[in-house]
Amino acid sequence: MFSDDQTRDLLDWHIAMGIDETISDLPVDSFTQPKPAAVLEQGAPHDLASAPQLNALTERTPATSRPVIVSPAAPPPSSEASVQTATKLAAAANTFDDLQTALLGFDGCALKRTATSMVVADGNPAGRVLFIGEAPGAEEDRQGKPFVGPSGQLLDKMLKSICLDRSQVLISNTVFWRPPGNRTPTTTEVATCLPFVQRMVELMMPEVIVPLGGPAAKSLLEQTAGIGKLRGRWFTYTTVNLSAPIAVTPLFHPAYLLRTPAQKRPTWRDLLMIRQRLDGADGA
Ligand code: URA
Repeated sequence: MFSDDQTRDLLDWHIAMGIDETISDLPVDSFTQPKPAAVLEQGAPHDLASAPQLNALTERTPATSRPVIVSPAAPPPSSEASVQTATKLAAAANTFDDLQTALLGFDGCALKRTATSMVVADGNPAGRVLFIGEAPGAEEDRQGKPFVGPSGQLLDKMLKSICLDRSQVLISNTVFWRPPGNRTPTTTEVATCLPFVQRMVELMMPEVIVPLGGPAAKSLLEQTAGIGKLRGRWFTYTTVNLSAPIAVTPLFHPAYLLRTPAQKRPTWRDLLMIRQRLDGADGA
C-alpha cells in the first residue's frame, strides 16, 4: 500500500503529466484487458457499433470488468481543414454572440474534447483595450471565464494601477479551451483558434491590444523573439478587414510576474506606456 505522502506524490506526478481528469470511479487494470489494437489492426470499419470484431471483443470481456472503450467518433479533421472551417465560421460572425455561437459549433480544436468549459472572453466588447492571454487554466475551465484564478487577480490589480477595470477592457486568450495539465497550447491548437481571435479583434476594434506572455505575443505578432525582447515596445496588428492598424504592446504574463516579482518594476513602466497611449499623451 502507498503511504499518504506517496499517494500525494503519485497524484502530483499524474497532474504534472497532464492526467488531471478521471473518466471513471473505478480503476481499469489494462493488463487484464484484451488488446484493442489487435481489433483495430484488423481494420475496424467506421461503423464501429456494428463491427463484428468489436462484438467479439465485448463477448470476450468478463462480465465483471469494464469493456474496453473504443471511441466510435470519426477521426478528427486535419489541422488544415480545421483552420479553413474556423476561418469560414469566424468570417460569418457579425456580432460577439455570433462568434460565441460559431465557436460552440466548432469541433476543429482538439482541446475542446478534454476541457469542461469553453472560455471565450470577459469584460466589455466595446472597451478600449483587448488583453489576450495564453490559455484558460483550471479555475477558468471551471468557471467558463478567462483570468479568474491567481493570474486573473494580479491582472485586475494591473488594470486598476492604470485606472482600468474589466468594464473598460475585454480579456480573452489565444485558445478557448484549457490545455490538459495547463501545458502551453500547441501551434496547431493556436492556429485553429486564431481566425476567431482575429474576428474578435475586427468586431471589437480596440485602441490597443495587449498580448500577455510570450506565446500570445509571438502568435499575434508573428515574431520569434522572446517576451523579454517584445515587451516595452509598440507593434501594429492588422487584418484585411481592419480599416486601420491597431497598436499592440505585449506585457509579461501575470503568472510569470507572480513567480518573478522582480519583473513587476519594468511591467509598471509598460503599463504606464499603455495609459499614456490611451490618454493620447505619448504623441502617437
Ligand atoms: N492564464 C491565461 O493565459 N489565461 C487565462 O485565462 C488564465 C490564466
